[in-house]
Amino acid sequence: MTAPAVPQARWLPQDTFAGQTALVTGGGTGLGLEISRGLAALGARVVVASRNTEHHQPFLREAEQAGWLAESHALDVREASACRDLIDGLVEQHGRLHHLVNNAAGNFVCPSHRLSANAWRAVLSIVLDGTFYCSKYAGRHMLQSGGGTQLNIVATYAWTGMPGVVHSASAKSGVLTMTKTLAAEWASYGVRVNAVAPGPFASDGAKGNLWPDDATEERIRRSVPMGRFATTSEVAAQCLWLMSPACEYVTGDCLTIDGGLSLAAGMMFGDGQRPGKRDGVR
Ligand code: HXC
Ligand code: NAP
Repeated sequence: MTAPAVPQARWLPQDTFAGQTALVTGGGTGLGLEISRGLAALGARVVVASRNTEHHQPFLREAEQAGWLAESHALDVREASACRDLIDGLVEQHGRLHHLVNNAAGNFVCPSHRLSANAWRAVLSIVLDGTFYCSKYAGRHMLQSGGGTQLNIVATYAWTGMPGVVHSASAKSGVLTMTKTLAAEWASYGVRVNAVAPGPFASDGAKGNLWPDDATEERIRRSVPMGRFATTSEVAAQCLWLMSPACEYVTGDCLTIDGGLSLAAGMMFGDGQRPGKRDGVR
């Protein structure tokens, strides 16, 4: 027996998404790639879409070797008409779109008082506008075809806030509210809309834009109560779970996957002061 593509999703039946079509924005890198691999290994036809199709090649190569159904399309989610054309085309070609993962994002650290209007717009347009465009155009088909799932990737700073990323935090907060709104609006049509809020995990995009040096990465790592970052496989497994029939009564929810990081703000004592395994307390 071959090892599962996403080890933490091994409890899901191999045919969980068989015969279904899924669109993953930003599906060629980082978390998006892991979600694409997991969906494809569990039977879905997976369409990855982002600006640079070179980013899709590792997924396409693996899919060819594994016999997965995979497609790649160039898409800038900031263009509403491009989102509409891609999604309409997929439905025309494959009959139906069952799953949408709004994973595409842009981010970088910049003090708010120095953030230019264009820089604010760059992130808001990818994260907030892009998520809405894809949700709307996929939703139009899902409402008419018996349902589907939409999954949005946010971050815990959508509700805690975080210095240095006012653009991303504001956009993710909007996406979280969008998740709940669309979930309520579309529940009676069988469309489930959920979100996940991962803590930090390693990806080229995050490393390049958020923790470019080892010292910063280590400082962030130490602030996680579990003492480590998530793996993309751990996060992707929860995404697959939420999209699967195991969660068919779950909608409008946001699952936090952060090793306790968002709780750390409530901890009054630092390392060595609070009782914990790392302090030698049993
Ligand atoms: C200040 C910056 C900047 C920076 C860009 N800008 N980078 N300002 N500090 N580091 C400004 C530019 O000067 C410009 O403003 C404006 O933003 C647009 O820049 P462009 O380079 O033209 O934008 P574009 O080519 O569209 O690229 C979008 C991008 C880029 C968001 C800026 O970083 C990108 O493509 N990112 C995709 C990958 C990524 O970010 N992944 C991270 C995901 S991690 P002016 O005024 O000069 O014209 C994540 C959550 C992590 O999202 C959560 C951790 C807990
Ligand atoms: P990543 O690899 O940089 O992923 C970002 C993806 O978005 C890339 O594949 C990129 O592809 C795509 N993208 C960017 N702008 C786009 C646009 N305008 N149109 C279409 N696609 C676009 O980073 P990641 O860390 O895996 O992030 C994945 C998701 O997790 C994001 O939603 C992020 O906010 C979230 N998240 C990450 C962390 C973390 O610690 N890494 C924590 C919490 C939440 P192209 O360059 O080819 O366009």
